Amino acid sequence: MIINGPNLNLLGTREPDTYGNKSFEAYFSELQFKFTNTELSYFQSNIEGELIDELHKADKDFDGIVLNAAAYTHTSVGIADAVKGIKTPVVEVHISNTHSREEFRHKSYIAPNAKGVILGFGLLGYNLAIQSFLNEK
Ligand code: DQA
Repeated sequence: MIINGPNLNLLGTREPDTYGNKSFEAYFSELQFKFTNTELSYFQSNIEGELIDELHKADKDFDGIVLNAAAYTHTSVGIADAVKGIKTPVVEVHISNTHSREEFRHKSYIAPNAKGVILGFGLLGYNLAIQSFLNEK
């Protein structure tokens, strides 16, 4: 299950120098093509509580969660608690290298309870996160 947070619905047009020119929908189709034998699902919301609800749902339905909580990564105790409270492992992904950006992006409330963190590889990070789940099988 891939869960994207606020403003990631604007991928493709939002700050292309940082986030690239491709929409997530276009990239998600590529992922589905690449991982044909894996059930992939995608959810995006700009609303913190909806992201928390989706983490709870995904905990029942999926073997792994790929989470880019976007700006909420740096602020949300609620999302961090959700990640801590569920059993399904979560890989935290960021398209940009948040450590090479503003100081406030260096802090992640999610990372301490994530299985791992992938950042700075562009959209490829989502692919790598999925592979990390498949390689353990
Ligand atoms: C982001 C990095 C965050 O700091 C930012 O708020 C985002 C996107 C990334 O994927 O690089 O919206 O999570």
